[in-house]
Amino acid sequence: MSETYGEEHIGNVTADAFWNVDEEFRDLQLKLLSIHVVSEEFGADCFEVSILRAPDAVMKMRMAKTVMEEYGHHLRFRGLFEELDVDWVAYTEGKPHLSTFDTPIESWADQMVFLALIDRAAAHQFRQFVKSPYEPFRKVCQDTLNEEYGHVGLGMDGVKQLLKAEEGRAEVEAIVEKWLKVGLASFGSDESRTNERFRQWGFKTSTNKDMKLAWYQQVHAFITRDWGIDVPEDMYALAETNPADGAAVSH
Ligand SMILES: [Fe+2]
Ligand SMILES: [Fe+2]
Repeated sequence: MSETYGEEHIGNVTADAFWNVDEEFRDLQLKLLSIHVVSEEFGADCFEVSILRAPDAVMKMRMAKTVMEEYGHHLRFRGLFEELDVDWVAYTEGKPHLSTFDTPIESWADQMVFLALIDRAAAHQFRQFVKSPYEPFRKVCQDTLNEEYGHVGLGMDGVKQLLKAEEGRAEVEAIVEKWLKVGLASFGSDESRTNERFRQWGFKTSTNKDMKLAWYQQVHAFITRDWGIDVPEDMYALAETNPADGAAVSH
């Protein structure tokens, strides 16, 4: 196959066709794989300590399963490099992990709010990727998305449990805005040039701003109504969410 696929007729891309596709597409795809190879393992390492912080055996088991699945995500994305015969160790060397893991998870409450809000933000990203052109990536993202829903479910159950006791409620109230800011930053800057290229090539269909808005409306609704915690209605009212402030490396 000698034809080079351009952005106008990219269609479905198989592993066999990958090296014939336009270089920019390949670079963006490998960049996405690299971010996930690095961040899924780094994230699992960050989560591991939460297993023993869980309040009972049921939650310990669910947290352990989450950690196991995060390592599995790393292996899955790594497999896509291997399928293309790309040396993933060399390719990912020195590459940063997602900025979401720069904020330390220091308590069980942190971990539960993280899963309820930040894994949900990740699920919003994966929902875009499952419609993207590269077939092996779509499949891996769909399998990962299915497990992310489980992680979000654990977070929601864990927060609900915490909110039942006065001490737990105080803990959740104290940290919710911190994680809202992390979640907003994870979508990247409103004016991201990378996001524009991702949309051009079909990796994403929405702008960072629209994704951020959709996520914020969703989480704002259950935080205020179901958790009974007051948070700003306008996402830009949260200090570190200035439109020009996107801290995420990937989006
Ligand atoms: Fe993951
Ligand atoms: Fe997850």
